[in-house]
Amino acid sequence: MVRINTPLPTVWLDGDFCQLAEARISVLDRGFLYGDGVYEILPVYGGRPLGPQRHIDRLLAGLAAIRIDDPGGGAAGWQSLIEALIEANGGGDIYVYIQVTRGAPANRDHAFPAGVEPTVFMMCAPMPALAPALIEQGVAAVTREDSRWARCDIKSISLLANVLLRQEAVEAGAAETILYAGDLVTEGSASSVFVVANGAIVTPRDGPEILPGTTRDLIVELAREDGLSAAMGEISRTDLANADEVWLCSSLREVLPVTRLDDTPVANGQPGPVFGRVHALYQDAKRALAQPA
Ligand SMILES: Cc1ncc(COP(=O)(O)O)c(C=O)c1O
Repeated sequence: MVRINTPLPTVWLDGDFCQLAEARISVLDRGFLYGDGVYEILPVYGGRPLGPQRHIDRLLAGLAAIRIDDPGGGAAGWQSLIEALIEANGGGDIYVYIQVTRGAPANRDHAFPAGVEPTVFMMCAPMPALAPALIEQGVAAVTREDSRWARCDIKSISLLANVLLRQEAVEAGAAETILYAGDLVTEGSASSVFVVANGAIVTPRDGPEILPGTTRDLIVELAREDGLSAAMGEISRTDLANADEVWLCSSLREVLPVTRLDDTPVANGQPGPVFGRVHALYQDAKRALAQPA
């Protein structure tokens, strides 16, 4: 028997709220058989999603890219679904997970099935706690060749390569695997990457090689508003190795300093001053969100 142990059990599945323990999908669902779907994760602070529009836009772009008709009623429909699910789970500091697959046809066949409704699943879970040591001392990362596919801009639920690449970090005692394609850094196995050189912040520019990260976009915006230099551009492997600072960011990990790369200290091995500033700006943005209007 499966024991479900979650304080946030209300989920949304195909048009209705139900308890996580009661949620069921067909084994013929194309998400299960082919990884044929997209997903989204939105961080929520004090019951309010951080930058929901960026996540909804990316979800709609992903659905269009894989040719699934939007089952959520457009941006406004998704926004109200997200708000309703957060409320059903009591708000707080949580995240919303959304997954849309091409549905569950009667037979297994690679080609798109006709007349099958997409499967829409949404759940909430507590935001993972980030230990203060991660911010104060930084994390280790390893680098590996990017072995994923040619459409990493799609937030696909097919995450096998990301899973294998992240496991390499875990087995090396590191928090993340930073990927490179040829000579250029792309991103982490589940995060965006920044480097700082001579005070200037750089993150790889959008393209099919990377997911357009929402946390990355927010950080670039906050940094620029604060008068820092933040640009999208190319980061070579040499740039990464010689950077004054390296950071990772994602909806679940916020922004973290990388202080060891492949067992070598990044600069002096301590989180840098630009990280300190950007981390404070991110915490301010979270606090502003969680305060009652
Ligand atoms: C491959 C990849 N890149 C970047 C990110 C960061 O995206 P976001 O900041 O929108 O969470 C993620 C997050 O899951 C990811 O899986």
